[in-house]
Amino acid sequence: MAQDIVTLPHNEIPHAWYNVLADLPQPLPPPLHPGTGQPLSPSDLAPIFPMALIEQEMSGERWIGIPDEVRELYKIWRPTPLVRAVRLEKALKTNCRIYFKNESVSPAGSHKLNTALAQAYYNKKEGVTRLTTETGAGQWGSSMAFASQLFGLGCTIYMVKSSYGQKPYRRSLMQIWGGKVFASPSDKTNAGRTILAADPKTPGSLGIAISEAVEDAATHDDTKYTLGSVLNHVILHQSVIGLETKRQLEIAGEQPDILIGCVGGGSNFGGFALPFLPDKLKRPDLRIIAVEPAACPSLTKGVYAYDFGDTAKLTPLVKMFTLGHTFVPEGIHAGGLRYHGTAPIVAHLAQLGLIEAQAVMQNAVFEGALQFSRTEGFVPAPETSHAIRAAIDAARKNDGKCIVFCYSGHGHFDMTAYDEHLAGNLEDYEHPEEKIAEALHHLPKVP
Ligand SMILES: Cc1ncc(COP(=O)(O)O)c(C=O)c1O
Repeated sequence: MAQDIVTLPHNEIPHAWYNVLADLPQPLPPPLHPGTGQPLSPSDLAPIFPMALIEQEMSGERWIGIPDEVRELYKIWRPTPLVRAVRLEKALKTNCRIYFKNESVSPAGSHKLNTALAQAYYNKKEGVTRLTTETGAGQWGSSMAFASQLFGLGCTIYMVKSSYGQKPYRRSLMQIWGGKVFASPSDKTNAGRTILAADPKTPGSLGIAISEAVEDAATHDDTKYTLGSVLNHVILHQSVIGLETKRQLEIAGEQPDILIGCVGGGSNFGGFALPFLPDKLKRPDLRIIAVEPAACPSLTKGVYAYDFGDTAKLTPLVKMFTLGHTFVPEGIHAGGLRYHGTAPIVAHLAQLGLIEAQAVMQNAVFEGALQFSRTEGFVPAPETSHAIRAAIDAARKNDGKCIVFCYSGHGHFDMTAYDEHLAGNLEDYEHPEEKIAEALHHLPKVP
């Protein structure tokens, strides 16, 4: 008999993170130095990251132990529940079983704290005193502010200007936890000043905010940079989501048929779905679906190429599906999904055909969110609602399948977006092909 809510005791918090690099059927193309175009060496990353995280970034070990201190802090909210959405199923009149892994129960409201704690821990251990980062929706910035607070570190956050205006209370949350927040582009960095001079009205983008945070870290000795997505070590830390989900499905007596996650940079999707990659390799009919906004369609309309992770070209070149580092997406409400690229791991798996990608429109996403809220009660983040939309569509198109999606965060600070949707004021954007083609002209030439 299937259970509707599967919880786990503290002793079932994983003891090690899972590194999907060990199980990739083909190796990941290496990151390249932005100046020389040669594969990156650990010392190239040392100005902005602590050595322990650089080692994790490059490690091929399948299992990497979770430090006791981090595991203890995970107990604040982990293990998170796996919930069967029985009322949603009933409303959809589906005979599919729909489960969601509820990562919204963390203090900051999303999965982002899984890696924020780990990153703050390793930085503290190596004597860093201040961290910088960027944030789109504010979920990552608030997680990093809280993690920094727990480890007694300063935290400077460059928040994408369009979200800074849309989400004043996410900013308050970061400030409650001691974070210093600037709207990006800001006048605090060369990168920000240059972009503001060219376009004073720019809504900003994650690519721009990353440039500012990297520059701030690289120009201060006591400071390092933290990234909330994209990188291998971030997906590694997020693997606690998928590892717990596997155990919970086992307890529920279920084998998943369709796994779904939304993709900004790829960290909740990767952390949730990739611990199932060994299963996918054995069972090709297991579908793993990454969902992105039609306004920022990197996986569905981008090209697989080496590109910069940021607008000012400060980061290494990584091979990913990209819309070009100069791409500035429309100010849609899923701020955390407005990124021009994707995690190299996620891109590589898409290229190999091991995961699928879907792009969805903003209003359809909010309709899915309302249906979910009105049946299951929880009000999802706009980012998370992309996964919900795809889960509802999958339930409509399939019979008797077990569908599991990652409920990456709550939407309690996203009421402006819900208000606009309810008032019928939300616009649907599909990013035009010409603009994508134009942005792709600026891709770096790689030897
Ligand atoms: C709730 C939520 N889900 C998903 C994302 C997308 O990020 P990622 O693809 O790294 O999981 C964000 C990013 O801010 C987020 O806040």
